[in-house]
Amino acid sequence: MSRAAIRVCFVCLGNICRSPTAEGVLRRIVVDEGLSDHFVIDSAGTAAYHVGERADARSRDFASRRGISLDSRGRQFTNEDFECLDYVLAMDASNLSDLEELPGAADFAGTLSLFRAFDPIAKAQAEVPDPYYGGDRGFDDVLDLCEAACRGLIEHMREAGQIP
Ligand code: 4NP
Repeated sequence: MSRAAIRVCFVCLGNICRSPTAEGVLRRIVVDEGLSDHFVIDSAGTAAYHVGERADARSRDFASRRGISLDSRGRQFTNEDFECLDYVLAMDASNLSDLEELPGAADFAGTLSLFRAFDPIAKAQAEVPDPYYGGDRGFDDVLDLCEAACRGLIEHMREAGQIP
């Protein structure tokens, strides 16, 4: 990993469904494109309900069907995280508003936004819907949304000259 690695943290509520999925999807794309040395990829939750837990079994199952392994453990986003990140990408408006209320958000020099803002075909303010209380389909949909937004994110970074 180079010192100039781009540090990305995906954030949802519990850090067991959406943000670990986004983390796994971006990690996979970055490996496939030979860009691993340019990234540090992480995820966190705004809540502490699932600290230390593996990703939800349904998220892991649907990801594994696409050859993506979700290996993260739940952790809560802290104010100090802002000090060492370049991109903090929220899954929904509620997550974003919780992050914006942290004191470190005001001085954050990186990008704090909705994750799907990087998906070129998503509508303004588009979210990654929480699949936790729904059926299996929601977990597969999260993967599709994460793939589209991750590809847009990579394209944005390329255009910004942050990655080759
Ligand atoms: P996530 O999904 O924010 O995508 O990880 C959830 C996981 C757990 C809960 C809510 C959403 N929960 O209420 O425990």
